[in-house]
Amino acid sequence: MKVTVVGAGAVGASCAEYIAIKNFASEVVILDIKEGYAEGKAMDLMQCASLNGFDTKITGSTSDYSKTANSDICVITSGIPRKPGMTREELIGINAGIVKTVSSSLVAHSPNTIIIVVSNPMDTMTYLVHKTIDLPKNRIIGMGGALDSARFKYRLAEALEAPISDVDGMVIGGHSDKGMVPLTSHATRNSIKVSEFLSEERLNQVAADTKVGGATLTKLLGTSAWYAPGAAVSGLVQAIACDQKKIFPCSTLLDGEYGLSDLCIGVPVILGRNGIEQIVDVPLSNAEKAHMTESAEGVKKTNGLLEL
Ligand code: LAC
Repeated sequence: MKVTVVGAGAVGASCAEYIAIKNFASEVVILDIKEGYAEGKAMDLMQCASLNGFDTKITGSTSDYSKTANSDICVITSGIPRKPGMTREELIGINAGIVKTVSSSLVAHSPNTIIIVVSNPMDTMTYLVHKTIDLPKNRIIGMGGALDSARFKYRLAEALEAPISDVDGMVIGGHSDKGMVPLTSHATRNSIKVSEFLSEERLNQVAADTKVGGATLTKLLGTSAWYAPGAAVSGLVQAIACDQKKIFPCSTLLDGEYGLSDLCIGVPVILGRNGIEQIVDVPLSNAEKAHMTESAEGVKKTNGLLEL
């Protein structure tokens, strides 16, 4: 199992680290345009191998895509991150050009790969990859919902004063401050609906805090987060590599599902060896449906800024 991670910045490096620590991939290639940077990150990570007990071979490359040849899975993290006060949508100008070039270069060397898009604005960048390269739709996956759901569970556990392992919940919709749709009506604490424990007001606060999860961190850190994004990507990579058939909300090209088409947006999917193996239909409340429609309108508006 060979995995390529494009972008040796904080998210890319954290993603490579989590993949290595989970020890399911034989090889991880990190690629970056900054001379020597990916090689340095790869060497530093390899020097953790004996300490953290993994056998994954990590190598770095400066812009040499031949090193990524025959990757089973490629992760695109390249582009600029948010600065405090910025929305993910504001990154489109610079990141669209980068994602176009990177995705074309990746498939040129790995024609049967599965691509996971992390660069922001993520749903629009995932749509752009579909428009740029010729891969079946199950092999192009946007990572946002897995991260937003992890942030939702963190906020739920905090409100419930419960361990996170006791909490389950999912965020669908666009990966943006306004577009996220936390499914509070489906969230549970050890199979009991969280509404049994929390007031509507507290649940609304949990949803609101979840939606600005990334922005809150960007303000604190001065740049966007990396540990949870890296961990979320590694979860998707592992589900595919190990054919786990796990459900994650991922951004995928819709063709009528959820009443939406011709856009990529977060919905629950089953991930296995073929990438997105099924889109799962979840019954939504009327409020969640309305929120999803509004979210899709936002994503389509951002897609309209692409020069296709
Ligand atoms: C975040 C970035 C990865 O939400 O979109 O932290």
